[in-house]
Amino acid sequence: MPDADPLLEVRDLHVHFHTDAGLFRAVDGISFSVPRGKTLGIVGESGCGKSVTSLAIMRLLAQPPARYAGGDILFEGKSLLKLSEAEMRKLRGGKIGMIFQEPMTSLNPVYTIADQIIESLRAHGMTDRARARARAIEMLKMVGLPSPEKRADDFPHQLSGGQRQRVMIALALANDPQLLIADEPTTALDVTIQAQILALMRDLSARTGASVVLITHDLGVVAETCDEVVVMYAGNVVERAPVASLFEAPQHPYTIGLMAAVPRIDTTSDRLETIPGSVPPPYMLIPGCKFASRCPLADGRCTAERPPLREIAPSHFVACWQAPIEEATR
Ligand SMILES: Nc1ncnc2c1ncn2[C@@H]1O[C@H](COP(=O)(O)OP(=O)(O)O)[C@@H](O)[C@H]1O
Ligand SMILES: [Mg+2]
Repeated sequence: MPDADPLLEVRDLHVHFHTDAGLFRAVDGISFSVPRGKTLGIVGESGCGKSVTSLAIMRLLAQPPARYAGGDILFEGKSLLKLSEAEMRKLRGGKIGMIFQEPMTSLNPVYTIADQIIESLRAHGMTDRARARARAIEMLKMVGLPSPEKRADDFPHQLSGGQRQRVMIALALANDPQLLIADEPTTALDVTIQAQILALMRDLSARTGASVVLITHDLGVVAETCDEVVVMYAGNVVERAPVASLFEAPQHPYTIGLMAAVPRIDTTSDRLETIPGSVPPPYMLIPGCKFASRCPLADGRCTAERPPLREIAPSHFVACWQAPIEEATR
């Protein structure tokens, strides 16, 4: 998806954690961009750096232990790393909305759901309280909360998990964001509710033209929701492709393994039983491909030299010395 003017661009981003055990390269040089109006999926096993990436974009990582160790994050062409904390606060909940896995960590238990949306609207410039309340109720209606006028004055604990996630989406969308970052927004929900929430997000982004970064460990969710996909492994992007191209012809041995693990309809587990071995220890410096120790195709070059992302089909990038991989091997 070539786009000269993407809404969000992550350029060779490095995020390190400095801990007593040593230096951990949680995000180790990743690049991707999100075109306007499109949904980008970020997928990979638990621990590969998806949440650190989303928190890094929002500048919500505590520093220390985190440190931006290189690269840049551009939103509307401007570096987010150069903004003041006040400018960043204006963006969060304004032009950039966020949805997390567990709504109770983002919803304040002591305020009604209407008041939380009203507060966010007021913080971003809608000072007329009656107008803000009307808008809050309109948002709750839009995300499909039943009897929104009545439920608006409920506290978060009075709602079900699915309803709370709808409120989070209403809150995230209240100020018409151009970018919505959703980190495992449906992982804690049961399968039927998951499908409803994903349909809702798709519908809302189609209606408002917002771009979405959807983070998940679930390739099924990606297939249903995304235009383009980034596959992460141990802090690296190993593959990046339009969704159809990724599913038709996955090119990285890790992605191929991930796909082989999909048929189990088990959304609570993100272990990959089909790929033997494990991710390298976090503090180990790996000069080559981090997947090499688990890869059936790895050779000497793979362990010696980090493969760069290369375009091997239109808009389809893979970081693997062995690619393109023949269909018979997949
Ligand atoms: N504050 C922190 N200090 C040290 N390590 C961290 C911290 N936050 C995250 N990590 C590590 O960074 C890695 C990536 O984490 P994360 O982005 O949360 O993974 P996921 O892909 O499951 O969202 C993990 O190994 C995690 O333990
Ligand atoms: Mg995570």
